[in-house]
Amino acid sequence: MGTPRLANQGEAYIIKQLAEFAGDKRVPTGLGAVMNGFAKALSDQDRRDVAAYLSSIDAKPQLSDLQALKESGQQIGEAYLGKVLVDYGVKDKVPACKSCHQYNGRGAFPMFPMIGQQRYVYLVNQLHNWRANAADIANGAYARTNDPVVGGAGMMRVVAKDLTDADILNVAAFLASAPATTVGNSRVPEQK
Ligand code: HEC
Repeated sequence: MGTPRLANQGEAYIIKQLAEFAGDKRVPTGLGAVMNGFAKALSDQDRRDVAAYLSSIDAKPQLSDLQALKESGQQIGEAYLGKVLVDYGVKDKVPACKSCHQYNGRGAFPMFPMIGQQRYVYLVNQLHNWRANAADIANGAYARTNDPVVGGAGMMRVVAKDLTDADILNVAAFLASAPATTVGNSRVPEQK
């Protein structure tokens, strides 16, 4: 369905997204379009409560089954190429995802959401949404524009504008099952 994993996503990040769905600042097309109505039906306190619950769930993530997705016709990228983007970016073009989203995209809360172990289709869709330019929008693409603006530019829109279609598939393939910890160090800093 293209839904994201919400369990253990940053508490403040979930509250921000729900407020922006409710305020029509993030207005997805397709199946995600249900979110605006749902968010409007929640009070501010409901949003805080649901975010607190989601960030407290102690469960193993259900990772995307890339093989099954491939068999259903979804294009799947090369994870080893995606890892290079996460760690180093593309020289003079794309910053390393890690510089904001932390090691293997495990998140740097409250501002930078967890993108590691996020669902594959959701990652691919969001990166297309962040990248959508005027021509894409004219062709009916949905542009996501609710990223924090720094120095006059949206953080994620700046990152995504120079990603190729292949980059998007590769980085999603890596992130969808990237371990949250470093080899030899099983400790993930506690976050909320
Ligand atoms: C300059 C900092 C920065 C860098 C570098 C960066 N991001 Fe982000 N990213 C953000 C911020 C901030 C958000 C949260 C936007 C919001 O509040 O809606 C975000 C959100 C996202 C989301 C949406 C997550 C969700 O749950 O909806 C995806 C996917 C994403 N980033 C992928 C990437 C990838 C892949 C890279 C590397 C190619 C990258 N980001 C590099 C700052 C950054």
